[in-house]
Amino acid sequence: MPTPSPARVHECTVVKNEPIAQDIFALRIASPELARMLEPGQFVDIAVPGNAMSLLRIPLSFAEADAEAGTIDIWYAVVGEGTERLSRMEPGATTTVLGPGGHGWTIPEGCRRALLVTGGIGVPPILCLARELARRNIPYTVCIGAASADRLVGEAEFEAAGSPVISIATDDGSAGYHGFCTAAAEQVLEIEGDNFDYVATCGPEPMMAKVAAAAERAGVACEASLERMMSCGFGACATCAVETKSGMKGACMCGPVFDAKEVVW
Ligand SMILES: Cc1cc2nc3c(=O)[nH]c(=O)nc-3n(C[C@H](O)[C@H](O)[C@H](O)COP(=O)(O)OP(=O)(O)OC[C@H]3O[C@@H](n4cnc5c(N)ncnc54)[C@H](O)[C@@H]3O)c2cc1C
Ligand code: FES
Repeated sequence: MPTPSPARVHECTVVKNEPIAQDIFALRIASPELARMLEPGQFVDIAVPGNAMSLLRIPLSFAEADAEAGTIDIWYAVVGEGTERLSRMEPGATTTVLGPGGHGWTIPEGCRRALLVTGGIGVPPILCLARELARRNIPYTVCIGAASADRLVGEAEFEAAGSPVISIATDDGSAGYHGFCTAAAEQVLEIEGDNFDYVATCGPEPMMAKVAAAAERAGVACEASLERMMSCGFGACATCAVETKSGMKGACMCGPVFDAKEVVW
């Protein structure tokens, strides 16, 4: 039985909200207390005003929580009515955000090197982890996948965080390798798995399943950040169930980051 969620509702103000790729926006909110509380890999649940019929908040990961500036950086894809309304929130707009949500990444003790594999809009929690690895002086390599070049995000930010991106892959071949980023990740783990102590992945579930299997073959610890529909975000509704080897677990409390070996893919 998970302990009660420490999440609570915080006021927040939109600082900026602008497109960074096709249908992908970078949102910065100011919410000083929450920014100080968030750990890499956790999530926030934002209320988007403007539709009285829509009571649910939107669960979103973050790319950075800056405790000093009191801001939280979120990258989100516009996929439906809620995120479309979010994309129309202008700087200065105010709303509320619930958090911190769930638990984040657990970098293994003594980790010498990490492999980060991300696809689509799975970049933010992985970028946040990359910045934490850099802070701890742990080297890492990154594989990024996207549907096409115009939906590719994060390359410059990963490089700025201190590590070269070893592989870019796009489904349509418009940037980098034509195919999935899992190919590079599988190759790295097969050839030099011994050099890695940790694999972290976030993106489409089939991608994460392949990464998890490759990490298991190489004998490297792997964590995956899973997305589920979330109605409450703090353990009260059971909409976010993930099937694990020890039963169903709520992604909002026991995740969103799971030990990949525990997940029934
Ligand atoms: C822990 C967590 C972290 C997330 N982090 C990010 C992030 O950093 N950036 C980002 O762009 N998105 C993220 N998501 C997904 C995001 O919450 C959904 O895209 C969003 O709720 C869709 O809202 P909507 O009203 O625009 O779409 P809707 O109109 O409700 O749905 C549009 C489409 O999105 C799918 N969808 C709706 N809600 C979710 C959900 N919770 N998870 C997966 N698919 C969903 C629907 O099945 C449908 O296909 C995260 C989800 C979770 C659970
Ligand atoms: S979203 Fe309600 S229990 Fe997880």
